[in-house]
Amino acid sequence: MSEVFQRNGAAGSGASLKKVVLASNNAGKLREFAALLGAAGIELIPQGELNVPEAEEPHPTFVENALTKARHASKLTGLPALADDSGLCVRALRGAPGVHSARYAQLAGGEKSDAANNARLVSALQGETDRRAYYFCVLALVRHADDPEPLIAEGRWHGEMLDAPRGANGFGYDPYFFLPSLNASAAELEPAVKNASSHRAIALRQLLARLTEEA
Ligand code: IMP
Repeated sequence: MSEVFQRNGAAGSGASLKKVVLASNNAGKLREFAALLGAAGIELIPQGELNVPEAEEPHPTFVENALTKARHASKLTGLPALADDSGLCVRALRGAPGVHSARYAQLAGGEKSDAANNARLVSALQGETDRRAYYFCVLALVRHADDPEPLIAEGRWHGEMLDAPRGANGFGYDPYFFLPSLNASAAELEPAVKNASSHRAIALRQLLARLTEEA
């Protein structure tokens, strides 16, 4: 194997994935990701512990944002890095709020809060009969900052938008996101149930399968 390939290569280059920086400081995500990846022998370190500041998320696609965050964390730490980007995509709104989910109300001059985001969404869907929506999550894992073959995984969690909130668990749009198959909103689910079936769980299992294939 050439020196260049060893330096820039991806799968099979021998890059160690024992220790991986998580490009997020969200404690909930760390718990979810650590549980599944721990089983594959991977230790996750939140980027805040290594003094990595949050990266910008300027792109129009989830995958570009996830990759940007992963490369940023890897570049600053010299370690492999994992990042996710997620959001809610509503059919009747042609995929909005999508990549803008966290700042949906703010982009319309409101505050950056779950309550304001939900209020804007309820108002946008008033009188709309097509309630179909899904949460989307992309995971990007880079072995080093310039990895030419990042591992990408994605998950979709399909549901329907409610016009009145249900449940007190979860976060974000969960009280308005109804799962017909579970007859509950995402905010009515026990955290363990949500964590086993959500868009993040689906993407994580896909990532894990890719890692296992590679090992
Ligand atoms: P990020 O992936 O942390 O950037 O999340 C983007 C935004 O998408 C969050 O701020 C929420 O508004 C929304 N979102 C992503 N995943 C979920 C979820 O599991 N429940 C509720 N809202 C979510």
